[in-house]
Order: sequence, then C-alpha cells, then structure tokens
Amino acid sequence: MRTIQIFDTTLRDGEQSPGVNLSIDEKVEIALQLERLGVNVIEAGFSAASPGDLNAVREVAKVVRNASVCSLSRAVKGDIDAAWESLKDAENPTLHIFIATSPLHRQYKLGKSKDELLESIRGSLSYARQFFSRIEFSAEDAGRTERDFLAQVVDCAIREGAKVINLPDTVGYLDPDEYAEMFRYIRQEVPRTDEIILSAHCHDDLGMAVANSLAAIKAGVTQIEGTINGIGERAGNAAIEEVVMAIRTREDFYQVKTTFRHEEIARTSRLVSKLTGMYVPGNKAIVGENAFDHESGIHQDGVLKHRGTYEIMSPSSIGKEEVPFTMGKHSGRHAFRVRLEQLGYPQSDERINVLFKRFKELADRKKSITDEDLIALVEERVHKG
Ligand code: KIV
Ligand code: ZN
Repeated sequence: MRTIQIFDTTLRDGEQSPGVNLSIDEKVEIALQLERLGVNVIEAGFSAASPGDLNAVREVAKVVRNASVCSLSRAVKGDIDAAWESLKDAENPTLHIFIATSPLHRQYKLGKSKDELLESIRGSLSYARQFFSRIEFSAEDAGRTERDFLAQVVDCAIREGAKVINLPDTVGYLDPDEYAEMFRYIRQEVPRTDEIILSAHCHDDLGMAVANSLAAIKAGVTQIEGTINGIGERAGNAAIEEVVMAIRTREDFYQVKTTFRHEEIARTSRLVSKLTGMYVPGNKAIVGENAFDHESGIHQDGVLKHRGTYEIMSPSSIGKEEVPFTMGKHSGRHAFRVRLEQLGYPQSDERINVLFKRFKELADRKKSITDEDLIALVEERVHKG
C-alpha cells in the first residue's frame, strides 16, 4: 500500500481567502497543530510577498520539527533569496517554485514564449539548487496547459533537480477523469517520474477539488495538497480532512494510506475556523456541526439499532465527542424515549404515547427542541399527575 504525503497550504493558499490575514503568532499556533495532525509539509507562506510573511515563515520554521516547512516562490532570484532567508535555519526546508504554463497565462500574464518559459525554469531551479536540496516545482494552471508542452516542462524541471512535481488545477476547471488522465499521460511520457513525488493541487470552483484529488491518487500521485476546511482563493482548495477521511474510510478501494492522526481533525478545524474567522457550514463533510447528527425518526431508529445503518465513520475517529441527536418534528418515538432515559426520565410505554404526541405538537411550533424543552414536557406531565 503506498503512502500519500499531505502537503498543507492553509497558511499560504488558505490565507489567500478574501479577508483572511493571520498574525505571526496565529500562524505559529496553526502550524504546531498541523504538525500534531501529522501533515508532511507545511507551506507557511510566500516569503517574498511581505516582510510579515517572511517573518512568519521563519518563526514557523523555528518551531516545527516533524514536518518540512515550505515557502512559495516565483521563478525569480529575489523570491528564492527571500525564501532562503526565511528557511535557512529550518530542519528540513522545502522551496516551492511555481510558474504558469497555460497559453492564457503565458500570453496575458507573463508575456513569455514556451522557450522563454523553459529558460526561466532552468535558470531558477539551478539558482535555487545552491541553497535548497528539496525543491517542489509547480506548473501553475497545468490543467489548461497543452499536454505535450506540460510534458516538456515536467521533464525540464526533473532534469534541473526538482524532487516534487506539482500539477495544479489552478482554476478548478477539470473533471476527475481529465485530471487523472493528465497524470497518467505525464507518467507515461516523461522519464523518471517514478523517482520523484508527483503532487495534486486542486481548487474547488466547480465543487470537484476533493473528487479530483482522489482521482489523481488513483492515477498514481503520491502527494495531495490542500487546506483545512477547504479554505482558499475564490471557492477554496481541496479540503484535506475530506481527502484523508475518504482514503481512510475507503482504504480497500484506494489502496493507499497517510500518516495523519485523524483524531486531531476536529480540533484543527475549530482552530483554523476561529483564527481565520471563516465559519464552517453545518453540512460541511467531516467537520460540519451536523456531519454526525441524525434528525429523522427513521435514521435515528436505525442508528440506535446499529450505527452502521447511517454512519460510515464515527465522530470519535476525527476527535469529535458524540452529541445527542437533534430532536425535531422528524424525530421518532425510539429516539424520544432514549433521549428521555439519557436525561434521567425513563417513562412507561403508556406515558411515552402521551408525551410523544405533545412533543410532536411542540416540534411543529418550535424549530429546535432543547433538552430543557423535553424536561419541561415530562415535568408538566408529572405535575398534572
Ligand atoms: O493553485 C495554484 O496553482 C497554486 C500554485 C501557486 C501552486 O496555488
Ligand atoms: Zn492554489
């Protein structure tokens, strides 16, 4: 079974979410939690972007010991120098050089021909090799790059010493089959791709970032990039907790594993949400408040009889405490009885019949029924004797 490396970019791509600006202390706090979570690479920032980012990368590199700390860099000397300045004391630094390769980016953003672009890759990687032994190269907008040119780019970067090749779907445009096909093509056409780490980096513009990442795993990649809670530019990045839990829950299907400590997921998600101010929707997979809740009577009854009926993983597997079912108008008699017992109010069948009728009337009037509401219902019944 191959091991998939997890490259976390919450502190770089994630911080590019509109309105998010993390202080150095906040970045350090999140980085330490990511280390606890077991990610393999922490992209702490873009050192050339601002003095604050450079310092943040440096501070993260000082404290993190069990993951490689990484800085983003354009394919230019000044950025590489800034990255080295921030990472020179790191235990195991990674330099992440990127340049856009698609026709749109070449023409409008960079104004470079294909040959000029290949020259930039050669020049920047050979310069960076003086400082860094671990270099990741990303072909930005790889997904919309001509496949034969992408193969040339990857070949060039491998020859120039890149140890990791990342092929991002920068604008979240590809379908899972297309994204997987791109990796299969590159693995087939470019020599020595089995000697390097091939990495997937997906954005969620069409809601397919996680599906694309999983398709890339099936096509042979050995690293997935993403962010906690899926935060990031526009619609965000692949949510790492979703990719990792999909792999864990369907291990037989994907035939891969990670070094993740899943029980740290809930805590990490809460920390990132609190410090970025980015609220996690209740129905978000894995870490949403409702992800392990059951409201309908049929589901509650099923889960009370056997959790596997409606749960494919347990809340404890992500470090979340078990919470009682939400009681509402869809809830059934079985869950109602069990909840009253849990609250210390066991009732006879006869009483349950009466109380359950009142509970349904109340649930029609009130959006959510609290434990206090349930106790009030029972005590009213007791009073009326
Ligand atoms: O989405 C992207 O292409 C990126 C690169 C800088 C790797 O974030
Ligand atoms: Zn990105």
